[in-house]
Amino acid sequence: MTVVLPVDAHRPDRGVIERAAACLRAGGLVAFPTETVYGLGVHALDRAAVRRLFAAKGRPAHDPLIVHVASFAGARALVAEMPPMAATLAARFWPGPLTLVLAKSQAVPNEVTAGLATVALRVPSHAVAQALLQASGIPIAAPSANLFSRPSPTRAAHVAADLDGRIDLILDGGPAIVGVESTVVDLTGAQPRVLRPGGVPLEALASVLGAPPLEVGPVDSSRPQPSPGLLERHYSPNAPLTLYEGPADQVIEAIRSAAAEARQAGQRVGLLLVDEDLGKGIEGVVRSVGPAADLDAVAANLYAALRELDNGAVDLILAHGFADARGVGPALRDRLRRAAAGRVVQC
Ligand code: TXA
Ligand code: MG
Repeated sequence: MTVVLPVDAHRPDRGVIERAAACLRAGGLVAFPTETVYGLGVHALDRAAVRRLFAAKGRPAHDPLIVHVASFAGARALVAEMPPMAATLAARFWPGPLTLVLAKSQAVPNEVTAGLATVALRVPSHAVAQALLQASGIPIAAPSANLFSRPSPTRAAHVAADLDGRIDLILDGGPAIVGVESTVVDLTGAQPRVLRPGGVPLEALASVLGAPPLEVGPVDSSRPQPSPGLLERHYSPNAPLTLYEGPADQVIEAIRSAAAEARQAGQRVGLLLVDEDLGKGIEGVVRSVGPAADLDAVAANLYAALRELDNGAVDLILAHGFADARGVGPALRDRLRRAAAGRVVQC
């Protein structure tokens, strides 16, 4: 049975945190809020517990986990070496939505890294995540707390919908603030590479690094993946999603005619739109992700809107895409393109 405990997002109750920490130390599975999305935590140095986590999520064993630590010192203990670049990025962005991939130390089990010689590390800023790390005194391996290939959870209810009965505890700290996952930067090569755009903007990384980091190109499932988790199907909803990218007027027009055509064919149409699209005569089951002019708000709403649309009431989803290169723009584009699994229409 899965226990759900409410917890204040800013001043978490000590008793609740102690209970969750004890559960983690004993090898249990605990979902908890982070500033990006909810994570499903497990004692990172407990191999059997890590295997149970993969089973609970239905996650393939070749997809490595991010290890969460309370501080830079905690990260240092898990790496073979800490390059100066890592220290610089950590000083600027930790705690926060940045994950660094570094050469792992012997301490990190192969189960966590899927056999890779590297480990992904992050110091989360959320007060509940911090309190849990400090109270437990252990590194916590935590993927997003969703079933494999479902959208990441940004509310405790999303976690329960996917994992009720499969995990021990859910800490309900309210909605995640950022709403998309951390930016993953690989520092094991000659140059830093962004494996996944996320909560830390690329221009913020560039301002610290002195030059834009290399970005891993479009996912090509026929080639070996630089990051095994970066599979196209990763964020795919149940109803097929088609993404429309381009100038707003043309996107609206294209979605309107596709929606009309699908309705005529007897299909129930889900529409993932922005506030600016509302009242423009597009008919279907509409969810707005917020104003296109406020990408941070869009990021905070995206996964909840996707889950609402994807609850079985629609046969297909038509989505308004984002092209902004700044802020969370690249992360939004990346997640929607994955959800679309190749069904992208350039307007
Ligand atoms: O914001 C986040 O990062 C959230 C919260 C819970 O911290 N976590 C998260 O975890 O999104 P997950 O497991 O859903 O995504 C982790 C990503 C995957 O794409 C995985 O392949 C990649 O990080 N990754 C983990 N370890 C890696 C490694 N050693 N080398 C390359 N990529 C790695
Ligand atoms: Mg995930």
